Amino acid sequence: MWDERYATDDYIFGTAPSQFLEKNAGLLTPGETALAVADGEGRNSVYLAEKGLSVTAMDSAATGIEKARRLAQAKGVEVDFRLADLKTWEWAPSKYDVVAAIFIQFAPPEFRAEIFNGIECTLKPGGLLLLHGYTPKQLDYKTGGPSAEENLYTRDMLSKRFGAWDILRLEEYEAELNEGAGHSGRSALIDLIARKPGVV
Ligand SMILES: C[S@@+](CC[C@H](N)C(=O)[O-])C[C@H]1O[C@@H](n2cnc3c(N)ncnc32)[C@H](O)[C@@H]1O
Repeated sequence: MWDERYATDDYIFGTAPSQFLEKNAGLLTPGETALAVADGEGRNSVYLAEKGLSVTAMDSAATGIEKARRLAQAKGVEVDFRLADLKTWEWAPSKYDVVAAIFIQFAPPEFRAEIFNGIECTLKPGGLLLLHGYTPKQLDYKTGGPSAEENLYTRDMLSKRFGAWDILRLEEYEAELNEGAGHSGRSALIDLIARKPGVV
């Protein structure tokens, strides 16, 4: 499905980073290592690289990765792009300072739990998770995101899963998104910014 959606010259989520990532760029430090999970057409990984991070980006859509490579080239940055499925992704333990998981709500609860465990594994102690998605209220807006309610996040769900983490921000809110044709209009959003526990 994603391969087909991306098979157009347009960047369906735009070439600018997610407004969430841009708004929180102050938390990023040049030289840090970052993993962009299910990065699509590259807008977020390329932005992280522009901020001076050393970035690996993965996605299962070949057409997305191809466009992401073109975007990185156009912006003059290097990103280590990997065509891979999260179902079989090897989460290298304590490897990254930052994980960006932005609009990855294709995963139903069981798969989501595996992904969250993988993210926890691959972050270094003290590493930063930037997670951004939709709440169930988004089903009223229909301006992007999946139609399966079970895939969406609530504050309660994330605070239970990440309760032991140092939570810097956990907020449900509404905003206008203008992120390509894919995310456009009034949206019911949720941000989680948290640091993995453990001795740094
Ligand atoms: C809504 S898009 C978001 C893309 C990107 N994170 C962004 O914000 O622009 C969801 C992405 O998840 C990817 N995806 C879906 N299932 C996946 C899987 N099992 N493994 C890796 N990527 C997957 C799709 O190819 C798509 O690029």
